[in-house]
Amino acid sequence: MILVTGGAGFIGANFVLDWLANHDESVINLDKLTYAGNLQTLASVADDPRHIFVRGDIGDSALVDRLLAEHRPRAVLNFAAESHVDRSIHGPEDFVQTNVLGTFRLLESVRGYWSKLPEADKSAFRFLHVSTDEVYGTLSASDPAFTETNRYEPNSPYSASKAASDHLVRAWHHTYGLPVLTTNCSNNYGPYHFPEKLIPLMIVNALAGKPLPVYGDGMQVRDWLYVRDHCSAIRRVLEAGTLGETYNVGGWNEKPNIEIVKTVCALLDELQPRADGKPYAEQISHVTDRPGHDRRYAIDARKLERELGWKPAETFDTGIRKTVQWYLANQEWVANVQSGGYRDWVARQYGDRAGAGA
Ligand code: NAD
Ligand code: TYD
Repeated sequence: MILVTGGAGFIGANFVLDWLANHDESVINLDKLTYAGNLQTLASVADDPRHIFVRGDIGDSALVDRLLAEHRPRAVLNFAAESHVDRSIHGPEDFVQTNVLGTFRLLESVRGYWSKLPEADKSAFRFLHVSTDEVYGTLSASDPAFTETNRYEPNSPYSASKAASDHLVRAWHHTYGLPVLTTNCSNNYGPYHFPEKLIPLMIVNALAGKPLPVYGDGMQVRDWLYVRDHCSAIRRVLEAGTLGETYNVGGWNEKPNIEIVKTVCALLDELQPRADGKPYAEQISHVTDRPGHDRRYAIDARKLERELGWKPAETFDTGIRKTVQWYLANQEWVANVQSGGYRDWVARQYGDRAGAGA
């Protein structure tokens, strides 16, 4: 049994689906179902007895203590977070609440449970914290990619809150001996990505005939990894990572945003041309830049490759094609997210288990 937090979000849900497809081991999925949590993504495992969904907050110590005591997981994987930089600029408090305080409370619950485990279970136990490359701050064009020894220099409320959570995880290892692992991954993309983030937003807006808002000059660089490659990296770190270590996760796919948007447009031109025959790129619209916008992220994932033998399965070309195809084939999922209809589905499907107002 493993406990996954945030398993109804983009990466957590991809992880749970992959896990159940590849393991017999059960998953308790603890998720608050914020706007970003979507049980429709997990519809295919809704009746799987190996998937136990619990709606709740990682900061609800009584609930987490009860779940740990009842299910006795051998590992806790912490995906739960507020994850969108633009939202963190407009409303940072939720980020401090979940990412900092929530992680602190989760660590305390896990420490209480872990410290009372029998010796063999205690040494086999793992707390894996899922984090981001954004904690390292921004790079100039000539800087080498981030390694695990780079200084933490977070610039947005989101990255500052993730950096704080990483520090807490580190301290719980050094002070209390909690067996922790931390992964710092680059930007993910792929199926079930909430259409507030760059790639799904561009696909969805393009198909709806809306403008494609590119912040500033669009020359900001992100390093992209297909979400299922992130999931395989997390499985590998859980299995073989050295306690207390951090692992960068990335696939050497640095791209300026404008190139990403043009690639999405070109794929749509090929796969679902506009009715008027014009290119989707005509919808690109440069808008005011994000305040404090980090110019470049790049991840050096050689430690993970060298020490644990991990490699991504997708190139950017194969991954982005799969992603665009997925959105074209799953427009109902997108429509439900946009209309908020997935909330009704959750209430119907899970009733009280999903909680009122889900
Ligand atoms: P997401 O926003 O899609 O999903 C977050 C999930 O956490 C949602 O299901 C939400 O309901 C849940 N949640 C939020 N607050 C909670 C709380 N207090 N208690 C329980 N559940 C709560 O995010 P994502 O993109 O899937 O990111 C998952 C993790 O990976 C985050 O920790 C994020 O920082 C990290 N990460 C994301 C990326 C990326 O590109 N998306 C890259 C690197 C790391
Ligand atoms: P985003 O997907 O929000 O991820 P992050 O900010 O965590 O990297 O944004 C990726 C890049 O795309 C980032 O440089 C901001 C830019 N961007 C736009 O240009 N337009 C948009 O509408 C969005 C959402 C992002």
